[in-house]
Amino acid sequence: MSAESKTLSAEPKTSSTALPSSGPAGSWLEPTTKGAPALEGFLVTGANGLVGSRVVAQLRQAGEKVLAVGRGETRFDQAIHYRSLDLAQPAQLRALIESVRPRTLIHCAAMTDVDGCEADPVAAWLVNVRAVEAAALGCRSTGTRLVALSTDYVFDGLAGPYDEEAAPNPRGAYAVTKRIGEETALLLAPGCAIARVAVVYSGRPGAKRTFALAALESLRRGEKVKAFQDQVVSPTLADNAAEMVIGLARSTAAGVFHCAGATCVSRVEFCRVLARKVGADEALVVPVSLAELRLPAPRPLRCALRVEKIQRLLGASMPLSLEQGLDRFLAELSA
Ligand SMILES: NC(=O)c1ccc[n+]([C@@H]2O[C@H](COP(=O)([O-])OP(=O)(O)OC[C@H]3O[C@@H](n4cnc5c(N)ncnc54)[C@H](OP(=O)(O)O)[C@@H]3O)[C@@H](O)[C@H]2O)c1
Repeated sequence: MSAESKTLSAEPKTSSTALPSSGPAGSWLEPTTKGAPALEGFLVTGANGLVGSRVVAQLRQAGEKVLAVGRGETRFDQAIHYRSLDLAQPAQLRALIESVRPRTLIHCAAMTDVDGCEADPVAAWLVNVRAVEAAALGCRSTGTRLVALSTDYVFDGLAGPYDEEAAPNPRGAYAVTKRIGEETALLLAPGCAIARVAVVYSGRPGAKRTFALAALESLRRGEKVKAFQDQVVSPTLADNAAEMVIGLARSTAAGVFHCAGATCVSRVEFCRVLARKVGADEALVVPVSLAELRLPAPRPLRCALRVEKIQRLLGASMPLSLEQGLDRFLAELSA
């Protein structure tokens, strides 16, 4: 057996009751017996991530029952119902879904390090494909509604902005595994929805460091910021992504939805708008081309996302414009 196939089949059959858990006691979280009654509550994976942490926070604020799933200890709200689970062992996720029987699963977890996926496609496959498969099969067997997050990187970036009807053409291990994850969910979980987000940023305390935050810090220090002039994207505030994903999850809509910011912009222009907002010198933004950086994994150039479909579902003002997103980002940072 090759090292790769060993890794792929190395999934111990564990019961979710054995998984480490924390948070307040609640009968909802106890394993149910077969034929258990109504499905209730939300299970959210990737709860320590940029989007997942905000999905959990917003659901909690709305008074929903939430079981947050993350890797290791919870890095956010200590009072939540929380389970630690390594998605490199996808069977554990299916077991958890079948045990808890949530009404809705919002699957935010993913291996998001694009160059890391390129270097280790087996790990990317396990998390971005096999864990989605486990999620979809669990949801299929319980009748749980699945919303799985995906990415603008499913497109090759030759002809964006793209709507949901555009044909994906993923390049690189991250993009390929995320696209196969989409297909897997759509095939296996009846009525599921795919929420594609893009270039996520957040000013929330404890949030992962993003391009936006690094750029802001440099601009405030009067240091130069290198930004791609040839990559046009739909930057998305994490909280706004969470709002759209929750709105989608509460609907019965099925299929693919672009849950991204409403403004298509180059990374250079993104930084210039940010500079203007904080009174920094726009000349600090140094345009570079993507090719100059010689990154290990391919990145799509024009991969902005059209958001009319989610606007029709949730209202025209739901995806924030860049101006609105950056205003909220700065407010989050100074809160
Ligand atoms: N961030 C972006 O710019 C962006 C752009 C387009 C699409 N997306 C998609 O949006 C979704 C949410 O991503 P995000 O922005 O919230 O990214 P993120 O901050 O990297 O969050 C992903 C989460 O998944 C968790 N995870 C990774 N491998 C795991 C494993 N083996 N077991 C358990 N958990 C694991 C990570 O845990 P750790 O915290 O322990 O690492 C992390 O908390 C993903 O589907 C992603 O592909 C993101």
